[in-house]
Amino acid sequence: MKVVISIGGSVIASPKPNVNYIKNFSQLIKKLTTEGHDIKVVVGGGAIAREYIQALRELGASEDYCDKSGILATRLNAMLISAAFGVYKDIPEDLNIKCSDIFIIGGIKPGQTTDAVSAEIAAKCKADLLINATNVDGIYDSDPRKNPSAIKLKEIKSEKLIELVEQVHKAGLSTIIDPVAAKIIHRNKIRTIVLDGRNLESIEKAIKGENHGGTLVS
Ligand SMILES: Nc1ncnc2c1ncn2[C@@H]1O[C@H](COP(=O)(O)OP(=O)(O)OP(=O)(O)O)[C@@H](O)[C@H]1O
Ligand SMILES: [Mg+2]
Repeated sequence: MKVVISIGGSVIASPKPNVNYIKNFSQLIKKLTTEGHDIKVVVGGGAIAREYIQALRELGASEDYCDKSGILATRLNAMLISAAFGVYKDIPEDLNIKCSDIFIIGGIKPGQTTDAVSAEIAAKCKADLLINATNVDGIYDSDPRKNPSAIKLKEIKSEKLIELVEQVHKAGLSTIIDPVAAKIIHRNKIRTIVLDGRNLESIEKAIKGENHGGTLVS
C-alpha cells in the first residue's frame, strides 16, 4: 500500500522532542517498508511552532511571517524523524519533486498546515491511504478539549468534515484537520483515517485494515 502518514508535532515533540517515541515510530515505518508498503511521512510543528508563532504575534508580525516560523519548526521536527532513519539530507521545501523523492517532509507554504501538505502528497502520489496521526483518538462532533461531552465519530463523509472544520486558516491553528486539507481530501476522494498517533499499534492496524480505533473519512 502507498500510505502518507501525517504525524502531529503534538505527538513527536510536545512540549519537547520525544526521542523514545521517535525511535519506535521509525522502527515501525522500517518494518512496514520491509513488508512492502511505500510510506511517506509529513511532520507537524507541535509546541515549538506554537511558541514561536505566539511570540511573533506579540511582536506584531504578520500572519504570513508567523506561518513561516511554523514551517521552519515543522522542518526541525522532520529532521528528528529523518535522523532516526539515519538520513541526513535537507528536508524538501516544495512539492515540485518526484513522488519517489518524497520520504520525510514538513510544511511547504503559509496559509495551510502540514495536514494540507499530507493531503496534497496523497493526491499527487495517488496514495491508497492518508493517516492523520494526532494527539486525540479520532474526529469528534466538536473539539473534545473544549467540549467534554463531544461525541467521537467512527466515520464521517468528507463534505461533513469540511463543514465541521469550516474556518479560516490562522498560523498555528490547532484543529483536527485543517480546512485546506479537508477540501483536498474531499475533491480527490482520499481515503483518510484520523487516529491516536501516540498509539503506534493503531497506525499499524490502520495500514493492515484492522480495527484502529480512529475515524474513517469517506
Ligand atoms: N472535531 C474535533 N475532533 C477532535 N479533535 C479536535 C476537533 N476540533 C479540534 N480538535 C483539536 O485538535 C487537536 C489536534 O490538532 P493539533 O493541531 O493540536 O495537533 P496535531 O495536528 O496532531 O499537531 P501539530 O499541528 O502540532 O502538528 C486535538 O487535541 C483537539 O483538541
Ligand atoms: Mg495540527
